[in-house]
Amino acid sequence: MTTPDVRTVLGDGDLTVVGQLVQASNATLVCDAALGGSTVRCVYKPVRGERPLWDFPDGTLAGREVASYLVCEALGWDVIPTTLLRDGPFGTGMVQRWIDTCEPDPAHLDLVDICPVAAVPDGYLPVLRARDMDGSAVVLVHADDTRLYRMAVLDVVLNNADRKGGHVLDGADGRVYGVDHGICLHSHDKLRTVLWGWAGRPLDPTLLTDLDKLARRLDDEFGDVLAEHITDPEIEALRDRILALLDDPVMPHPYGDRRIPWPAF
Ligand SMILES: Nc1ncnc2c1ncn2[C@@H]1O[C@H](COP(=O)(O)OP(=O)(O)O)[C@@H](O)[C@H]1O
Ligand SMILES: [Mg+2]
Repeated sequence: MTTPDVRTVLGDGDLTVVGQLVQASNATLVCDAALGGSTVRCVYKPVRGERPLWDFPDGTLAGREVASYLVCEALGWDVIPTTLLRDGPFGTGMVQRWIDTCEPDPAHLDLVDICPVAAVPDGYLPVLRARDMDGSAVVLVHADDTRLYRMAVLDVVLNNADRKGGHVLDGADGRVYGVDHGICLHSHDKLRTVLWGWAGRPLDPTLLTDLDKLARRLDDEFGDVLAEHITDPEIEALRDRILALLDDPVMPHPYGDRRIPWPAF
């Protein structure tokens, strides 16, 4: 099925609830959207099921998820699965295409994982040293992977306050997806992520071209589309973050405290 078809089925299909994600912090349901013989599995998060957050008083988490998807789509980066706002069995909410993931392979680390300090494999970047429950030195690591790198840059753009390991999906289709963007796009710096492994490195120039295009698009109707989901100061702050990256194209360092989300997975 091509992407426009997925969008149409997600947007206009009949939604049937098939399960609930019990470990989720808000009401997060798994649904099938069905239209004209096609079915697309999706996550459905009704606005009604959102727990209010004192630090994100404006708009809705669902709206922030949609705005984050629109920014990602405008960059052409394919990190966030198709996400849209629509009516559903529990009222308005966000629906997002479900991503089938690879079976975990016990012989290899996940894209984001923990390993003994002395055993960081080639192709992995260390992020944080810690002690496990037995007192042994371990390290939080992530893969030095171009798909994950784009997600890390996207998180800087989105000001993602919650990039946990569990919000990184290793897609069975060979792509890497990010999910749960309900606390993105605040106007104050809230970047919290496990993807700090590229801190201090220069930004890939091809991504800068995409960022430059996005900054220009914010001045036209794309800014109006985002304004349906986030506030004007938040759109201004998004523009400022993009311009700051273009001006000083280096991945930021984790300054200040609490720069790793908790729990980290
Ligand atoms: N689009 C998706 N495709 C596949 N799995 C998903 C998708 N969205 C969420 N999940 C899974 O469900 C878990 C909980 O969803 P999440 O969006 O983090 O909910 P919450 O906002 O309640 O934290 C995620 O960690 C992930 O494992
Ligand atoms: Mg989550």
